[in-house]
Amino acid sequence: MSVRRVSILGSTGSVGVSTLALLEETQSAGSTAVAVEALVGGRNVALLAEQALRWRPKITVIADEDGYAELTDRLRPAGLEAACGDRAVIEAASRPADWVMAAIVGFAGLAPTLAAARTGAVLALANKESIVCAGPSLLALARACGGHVIPVDSEHSAIFQALNGGGVERVSRLILTASGGPFRNWSRAQMAGVTLEQALAHPVWRMGPKISLDSATLANKGLELIEASFLFGTPQSQIDVLVHPQSIIHSLVEYQDGSTLAQLGQPDMRTPIACAYAWPDRLPWRAPRLDLAQIGQLTFERPDTDRFPMLKHARESLDLGGFGPCAFNAANEVAVGAFVKGQIGFLGIASVVEASLDAMSSGAFLAMASTGDVLDAAKQVDFETRRIAKAKLSLTDALI
Ligand SMILES: NC(=O)c1ccc[n+]([C@@H]2O[C@H](COP(=O)([O-])OP(=O)(O)OC[C@H]3O[C@@H](n4cnc5c(N)ncnc54)[C@H](OP(=O)(O)O)[C@@H]3O)[C@@H](O)[C@H]2O)c1
Repeated sequence: MSVRRVSILGSTGSVGVSTLALLEETQSAGSTAVAVEALVGGRNVALLAEQALRWRPKITVIADEDGYAELTDRLRPAGLEAACGDRAVIEAASRPADWVMAAIVGFAGLAPTLAAARTGAVLALANKESIVCAGPSLLALARACGGHVIPVDSEHSAIFQALNGGGVERVSRLILTASGGPFRNWSRAQMAGVTLEQALAHPVWRMGPKISLDSATLANKGLELIEASFLFGTPQSQIDVLVHPQSIIHSLVEYQDGSTLAQLGQPDMRTPIACAYAWPDRLPWRAPRLDLAQIGQLTFERPDTDRFPMLKHARESLDLGGFGPCAFNAANEVAVGAFVKGQIGFLGIASVVEASLDAMSSGAFLAMASTGDVLDAAKQVDFETRRIAKAKLSLTDALI
């Protein structure tokens, strides 16, 4: 039996847990054994230790240094090695592996994802923020190092599958579907009073808190639009968003000859993860099946960018060129963090992002983009945008 070396960055999160669940369910079915090289978590020591004791990775890393003592206490009796801190996260991501799941949330995932790309592994990319912040460089790096980037976001996995390994020369349009989130039918006046609990309650998907909040504002679809543009080399003018509340069609590719190919499946992240894991093969796994007769109806609507302006701002950030999307992401991370702390209201999220993007001139982006190393440049743009966005927080009452 052959052995596949696997690392999971963000193993304690929603995607990380789904990935390990899939490996657990499928490893007995195939002819390949899984050897876990590295598990990386942020702060959840208890879950990380439990995962490590089950999978016996060569290294287990907790980013939060305060969790290190507890992690070593739990792993030492089993003879397992542990480490902590950002440097250790990058070292773990740099270890040779055949397949790496990049599932850390936010800009924090960029450095480890770049490190994993440098190993030449097959990189299963869930951390959309890394492609948003440094897409072309990340893809070029993975290619130059002999690796492959396989999308895990369900929409991009759908497009990847509909393209079937082919080029995009004969594609006329990519259509990203969106559930519309919990406030699909809410007026702006209603959305002004949205609570954190309401914003976290996604109607279809069970996901981590940040992506759930981004789905409520449609910032997630904005990030995905940028991701699609970089991943598939498609100009944003050829990428549309279509609201599809049932989340059964995960996205579509329209070809120049009038054919439109869609990928369908249950809204279950194990399916796109399985696709990225087995690529270019298919995993022999009894995934939850789709019963279209039972579902009965699939419906579609155009997104309303007046009620959900984050989609517009994502497009504007792409128009800025260079690190514009990185600024969009940074402003959004600051605004979402402020909403979680109760510092701004739900509508304030888009207001902070809009004001921050306005303040970052395209000249500044170009200057920052020319500083050489992509990680340094992205960090610089991220830092500067966060500073501006934080300054805008106090003005949001006026901005809403
Ligand atoms: N969830 C989904 O269905 C889904 C679908 C498509 C794409 N994605 C994308 O996948 C990524 C992960 O999403 P998620 O929903 O799984 O998020 P999540 O549940 O919040 O998990 C995030 C993971 O990142 C870890 N983490 C956070 N900060 C870290 C840091 N500084 N260093 C190292 N690890 C850190 C967390 O550790 P602790 O929990 O231990 O703190 C956790 O393991 C995001 O980019 C998201 O947009 C998610």
